[in-house]
Amino acid sequence: MSKALKHIQALAVLKRGVKVGELFKAEGRGIYFVYDQGWLATGFNLSPLTMTWDDKPQLARNPSLFEGLHGPFADSLPDGWGMLLMDRFFNSTYGEGTHLTVSALDRLAYMGDRGMGAFEYQPRAEKTELTGPVDICQLYAASLDVQQGETQTVLTALRLAGGSPGGAQPKAILALSEDGRHATSAFGSLAHGYDHWIVKFRALHEPVETGRIEFAYAEMARAAGVTMAESRVLTTQMPSGEIEHFFATRRFDREGDLKIHMMTVCALMYADYRALSSIDYPNLLKLTQLLTRSSVEVEKMARLMIFNALSHNHDDHTKNFAFLCQEPRKPGEKEVWTLAPAYDVTFSNAMGEHTTDFGGRNPGKPTRKRILEICSDYKYLKAEQYIEQTLVALSQWKNVFTRLQIPHKAGEGIFNVLDKLHKDFEK
Ligand SMILES: Nc1ncnc2c1ncn2[C@@H]1O[C@H](COP(=O)(O)OP(=O)(O)OP(=O)(O)O)[C@@H](O)[C@H]1O
Ligand SMILES: [Mg+2]
Repeated sequence: MSKALKHIQALAVLKRGVKVGELFKAEGRGIYFVYDQGWLATGFNLSPLTMTWDDKPQLARNPSLFEGLHGPFADSLPDGWGMLLMDRFFNSTYGEGTHLTVSALDRLAYMGDRGMGAFEYQPRAEKTELTGPVDICQLYAASLDVQQGETQTVLTALRLAGGSPGGAQPKAILALSEDGRHATSAFGSLAHGYDHWIVKFRALHEPVETGRIEFAYAEMARAAGVTMAESRVLTTQMPSGEIEHFFATRRFDREGDLKIHMMTVCALMYADYRALSSIDYPNLLKLTQLLTRSSVEVEKMARLMIFNALSHNHDDHTKNFAFLCQEPRKPGEKEVWTLAPAYDVTFSNAMGEHTTDFGGRNPGKPTRKRILEICSDYKYLKAEQYIEQTLVALSQWKNVFTRLQIPHKAGEGIFNVLDKLHKDFEK
């Protein structure tokens, strides 16, 4: 007999041990959030464009998205891969089909303190802890079992390590040693010499070069002037003798043990990441200006737009852009928003066109003319220069692939597409 699931009616939201507020369910009316008086006195508005900054209970700006959750809390939940692992847990613990009955608050209580970004939820509904060393090969093998549908019960280490980040692809959050040879649980305090990383596994359908191609893209993006999250390739030998190369990225929502408030554009704007064109690049630049009030940050977004356009990254959906918020250090100081480093930047066909479009008359097709138009709203942007720098960086692909020992044939298909793209860019 499975246990019965006790549904959650109310949750405390905490950040660095300080109460931020409370989420509660009002039957028939939805999920309310109310800021804590203490937080109102010393904290800041978690999502300034869509949340009110007062002591009144508030509904989400668009309750038809995120199962009624407010943006900042929706971002604490995974999607694709993490949600699949979570659903398997609910079904194996509480009976087949339970995942259809769990609410957003049940899911947040399950996440407890394992979520990405800064927030923790109490009471925690799942008390199993992941501690000590973690074997990456074992996690990867378990991720293949899940995808092959061979097991309903997921290896606990994979469920806990892999269950937090968003994204469709199998992955895990881990603490890695400086040389990348040792991995431990990312929960609890970091061991000396370790830091927080996300390791992206290869999905069943993906070629063996996938991780190294994402790494090559990260190198070319850096050369193009894009501010990228730090990355590395983890090379491991599987028990079968096969060598795997996993892309890993250092987490920017952690500074040592400190958790940083992070929000995706999806959550900030209630812009559905599954829909085509739920935002466009002109509005992404506007959002960056509005939130950060910084020309440095707008330039970062412009460079990322140009790299995505010229490198055929069609997977530029609203969960693939994020902002970070540094909280005030002293009373009276304001919080500071910045654009998070770029991530998930790689060659992608996604839905056949850019998920975030370029506006104008032919929104799906970036051209030099259109990019210059978009950037001309910001006098300080040097769009021609960013475009040239990006074209030069991408033209180096053969050198980059050789250095990373990626077979040229894995790159040729990609760069034939880019050749055509660059010709069309000038039309
Ligand atoms: N360096 C990082 N630091 C903190 N969070 C990150 C970092 N890189 C990625 N993330 C978070 O993890 C999520 C998943 O990462 P990523 O987008 O690379 O995975 P994916 O499975 O390839 O995604 P998609 O479904 O878009 O293809 C992102 O949406 C982002 O919120
Ligand atoms: Mg992604």
